[in-house]
Amino acid sequence: MAAHRVICWDCGEEVDDPFVNTCPRCGGLLTVKMDLEPVKEMKPEDLRSTPIGVWRYAPFMPVDPAHKVSIQEGGTPLYTTAALGAEVGVKNTFVKFEGLNPTGSFKDRGMTIGVSRANELGAKVVGCASTGNTSAALAAYAAKAGMKCAVFLPSGKVAMGKLAQALFFGAKVLSIDGNFDDALALARKMSEERKLYLLNSINPYRPEGQKSVLFEIMDQLRYNVPDRIILPVGNAANIWAVYKAITELQEVGWIDKVPMLTGIQAEGASPVAQAFAKSSETFVPEENPETVATAIRIGNPISGRKALKAIYSTGGYATTVTDAEIISAQQLLGRKEGVCVEPASAASVAGLRKLRAEGIIDRDERVVCICTGNGLKDPDTIINNCAPPIKCGNSVADVERALSE
Ligand code: F0G
Repeated sequence: MAAHRVICWDCGEEVDDPFVNTCPRCGGLLTVKMDLEPVKEMKPEDLRSTPIGVWRYAPFMPVDPAHKVSIQEGGTPLYTTAALGAEVGVKNTFVKFEGLNPTGSFKDRGMTIGVSRANELGAKVVGCASTGNTSAALAAYAAKAGMKCAVFLPSGKVAMGKLAQALFFGAKVLSIDGNFDDALALARKMSEERKLYLLNSINPYRPEGQKSVLFEIMDQLRYNVPDRIILPVGNAANIWAVYKAITELQEVGWIDKVPMLTGIQAEGASPVAQAFAKSSETFVPEENPETVATAIRIGNPISGRKALKAIYSTGGYATTVTDAEIISAQQLLGRKEGVCVEPASAASVAGLRKLRAEGIIDRDERVVCICTGNGLKDPDTIINNCAPPIKCGNSVADVERALSE
């Protein structure tokens, strides 16, 4: 295990209690400070004997691999998307398709490290609030680890595939009367009362695993750093994790250029993008977030300030997209690239299209869109936005007639 300390992101205080998720002194957010001295002696090639995936990057991870709980997460494809690029008018575009993780979203990256950490601490009961994907991932990793698991979901607002996964993997699924922000407040209370080990991204070990998506992108591009990385922003930990990975690669001297981190939010749930529009480092929470992209239907993102730091420090950008733009981008990926992503993930592509049209993104840029989750998570949204099946009789003539209509 790489040596590390947990410190307060706000006041710098070192935090020893492994069961708190905010600074006991100032209430600030926590983060992990890795000791990367040993990695400075290494080159990226030295890691390549381990298969691509989260654990290839163990020297950047704060958990001892002896406690590893893994379902072979990470190692997802980075597609070259020429047809998408031609459609939006950007020369070099790539899609990192996180929907091909074991439970179908990028959350598996954070969860292998988070649940391994829970294992290291001897935790017996784990829990999280979720818009769906985090709960699906935690339920699977808890099953693998033999831990009890409780998930807190906003009632009626979780896509069918995600709910099915949490139930299937044997979690206690609690349908909370309220939105995600309410469910998270409740899960945090349970953790403060030490009734469960909390595995939301406020737990500083979760983003550590999520750093691996950036390490993989660099590996897959042979360290030819892209100009920009675009990703959807909900509770706002992932963009922070990607930023943290960039700073660590700089620290060990493996990259000397920084991609512009660009965060996209749904118009109806956009506190981070609104803050960016005002050049503010803090955001104003939204009371009633609403969007078709239920995964990012969040009004009070826990890591919102960290996300803004990631965006400003890399010369990046943040904007909003409408639900119609999200669905249109989702269909574009399907029809032009054969890739099926869920609505929240399509927000990154909708953002690419919008920011190119506005001239914020240059046509000569090399841009990676991170598509965070699989489209099959939310079949209802797909069916609602496609033409229905064609009714057809059982003869060749019927088929010919149907196809010619
Ligand atoms: N994309 C998908 C598919 C997600 O499920 C989420 C977050 C995000 C993007 C946003 O990532 O929160 O790090 O900014 N889903 C969480 C959940 C909130 O509970 O599954 P973020």
